[in-house]
Amino acid sequence: MGERKDIEPDAPVGVVGAGTMGAGVAQCFAQAGHPVVVVDPDAAAREDGAARLRAGLRLSSLLRGRRPDGGGAAADPLELVRFTDELTALGDAAFVVECAREQVPVKEKVLRGLDEACGAGTVFASCTSAIPVERLGSFTGRPDRVIGTHFMNPAPLKDAVEVVRSPLTSEDTLALTLGFLARIGKKPIVVGDGPGFVTNRVLMLTVNEAAAVLQQGTADAETVDRVFQECFGHPMGPLRTGDLIGLDTIVDTLDVLREHTGDERFRPCALLAGLVAEGSVGRKAGRGFHTYPQSPLATRGENSHG
Ligand SMILES: NC(=O)c1ccc[n+]([C@@H]2O[C@H](COP(=O)([O-])OP(=O)(O)OC[C@H]3O[C@@H](n4cnc5c(N)ncnc54)[C@H](O)[C@@H]3O)[C@@H](O)[C@H]2O)c1
Repeated sequence: MGERKDIEPDAPVGVVGAGTMGAGVAQCFAQAGHPVVVVDPDAAAREDGAARLRAGLRLSSLLRGRRPDGGGAAADPLELVRFTDELTALGDAAFVVECAREQVPVKEKVLRGLDEACGAGTVFASCTSAIPVERLGSFTGRPDRVIGTHFMNPAPLKDAVEVVRSPLTSEDTLALTLGFLARIGKKPIVVGDGPGFVTNRVLMLTVNEAAAVLQQGTADAETVDRVFQECFGHPMGPLRTGDLIGLDTIVDTLDVLREHTGDERFRPCALLAGLVAEGSVGRKAGRGFHTYPQSPLATRGENSHG
């Protein structure tokens, strides 16, 4: 298949990974009218992701003052999304966003599988938090069609997307991605490639240092977050931000940053590593630096970074 000029408004698209980000990105695509296939090998993750997507669509239609089915004016976004464990279901997707766990071997497996399953024109976008996009492209036979689309969390509520262009990403792929994101209502910000890009090279150190401050007893978790909110005007402090992202994802991302930079500042502090080891991985577990009530919207629906 040749180069595409555009992602047509009703073109089928794909999402790999039904977790925190995958369900949110799928919601964005369905709300824009695209049929979406979401692939995740884990049945529980598919079920949980589908429940959050349904809850997100209901909330969105309430906020927009519309019926969840779009009032009959357009296709029901819920009916546009299908969950499966088969990458081959993405065979005719024009654009696929990979939202699998932040570990290089996991991303490598996904990208090699996508390369086999999809047509030559399909763009592979990664929601990676920190892995250089050029490295991800090397797992495919089409590094020119690979780009970073670092959506923020929660994806349906955050317009900005950090778009990462590797040295091998083609002009066509960049133009196609920017056009597609703009049409679904996102505001792309293009940056160069490198571990953690702009966002997470800075944010991950901040979360890790905030955890170290807590560990040393300089202030409790509420106070650390209040300082950032009230002194700096941040909408959310670094510890609640870490809880929202998921402390397992924070540790995975710090590991990627340390591996790719050799910089020991990215080693997760003992408190952060300990919370992950005991399963206190943040909002999705009901506890992390803070504790949270459990519900699909409460766990993943608060406005923050990503
Ligand atoms: N959580 C955030 O705030 C945030 C923000 C921006 C980007 N990201 C990035 O987005 C990606 C996903 O993060 P998340 O927070 O949604 O993680 P998550 O742990 O909530 O979800 C990851 C999903 O990947 C699935 N998975 C594992 N192996 C797979 C495979 N081989 N094929 C398909 N799916 C597979 C898991 O079953 C799980 O459902 C990561 O790269 C992360 O760094 C996360």
